[in-house]
Amino acid sequence: MAKSPKPDKTPKSDKSRASADDAPQIDIGLSAGDRRKVADGLSHFLADSYTLYLKTHNFHWNITGPMFNSLHVMFEGQYTEAWTALDAVAERIRALGYRAPGSYAEFAKLSSIEDAAATDDSDWREMVRQLVLGNEAVCRTARKVLKTADGAGDDPTVDLMTQRLNIHEKNAWMLRSLLA
Ligand SMILES: [Fe+2]
Repeated sequence: MAKSPKPDKTPKSDKSRASADDAPQIDIGLSAGDRRKVADGLSHFLADSYTLYLKTHNFHWNITGPMFNSLHVMFEGQYTEAWTALDAVAERIRALGYRAPGSYAEFAKLSSIEDAAATDDSDWREMVRQLVLGNEAVCRTARKVLKTADGAGDDPTVDLMTQRLNIHEKNAWMLRSLLA
């Protein structure tokens, strides 16, 4: 005669509690390969954005000379906006199932933008020139990520990169206009 199964003495409340092993695999309608490609691109974009953010803040602190007030204020507007956007980019990487880079060492490895060169703090034109180049580099990286995301059907990333392009192209135009 078959033994009857032992009664399960686990309390009901424990049975319904999920353990870490029960976390479902990510399944948002994008393949793991596509998610990886987009997350890699976003990691480069995050590194570029962070480097440009820091450079803009650096120049906000250190600029001297007759353009101090207007550029100090202009740089503040740009780095404040950039700071907020960093979070959305990093959290998009997490939503795709990957780890967001978050250290200076990782950013230095991933960024296409050089750290701020030791500039003469009274040379506002050189600071503005570096920020034009930085904003343009961010745009180029955003375009690459946008293409990858578009190919993968990842609309939220396409949307995010479109928003960032709008901002950084505008920044580049405004900064470039100062040098005309
Ligand atoms: Fe400040």
